Amino acid sequence: MAILKIARMGHPILGMKSVPVEDPGAPEIRYFVDDMIDTLDDAGGVGLAAPQVHLPIRLVIFKVPDASAAAERYRAAGLEVGTEEIPLTVLMNPVIVAIGNETHAAYEGCLSIPDMSGEVHRPVHIRYSGIGLDGETIAREATGFHARVVQHECDHLDGILYPQRISDMRTFGYNDELRKSFVPKEEAEEDTP
Ligand code: NI
Repeated sequence: MAILKIARMGHPILGMKSVPVEDPGAPEIRYFVDDMIDTLDDAGGVGLAAPQVHLPIRLVIFKVPDASAAAERYRAAGLEVGTEEIPLTVLMNPVIVAIGNETHAAYEGCLSIPDMSGEVHRPVHIRYSGIGLDGETIAREATGFHARVVQHECDHLDGILYPQRISDMRTFGYNDELRKSFVPKEEAEEDTP
């Protein structure tokens, strides 16, 4: 059990394409996942991808706690969060398929880009699958915040950080600055004459 060092934006490993996990049942994978869970708990995020802790393999962990700060922010922006609470999930060699064409925009942050956020458009509804820690097949449909977390984490496996997906770079900034000017969507609409 150990807390691992998280690579920050600028480190080349974050731009690499990670390789598939060849033996998902290997004891080394289990030890590594234990350390990733400790690291995520310590950092206080909702997800972590293996390359963020310097191992470029296709493995992500995530959880969707219903009352997380990010979920609250989603609700404040009038976006669907989903009522489902997703327990900590370990997903290896994941595959994501978008369902339908609907996308929505929401602010994202990343443990590799501390104290910053930016607005990213992503498919609302996805189907994803992969292999779990006990070798089981995981296959789920996800919407809203859950779908966003999975897409964000799996992007890391292809060397993509969320700023690469921001369409309006004016939305990218430091959290304490963004908070000063943040207007929840419903209020913004009320203000419109
Ligand atoms: Ni991230």
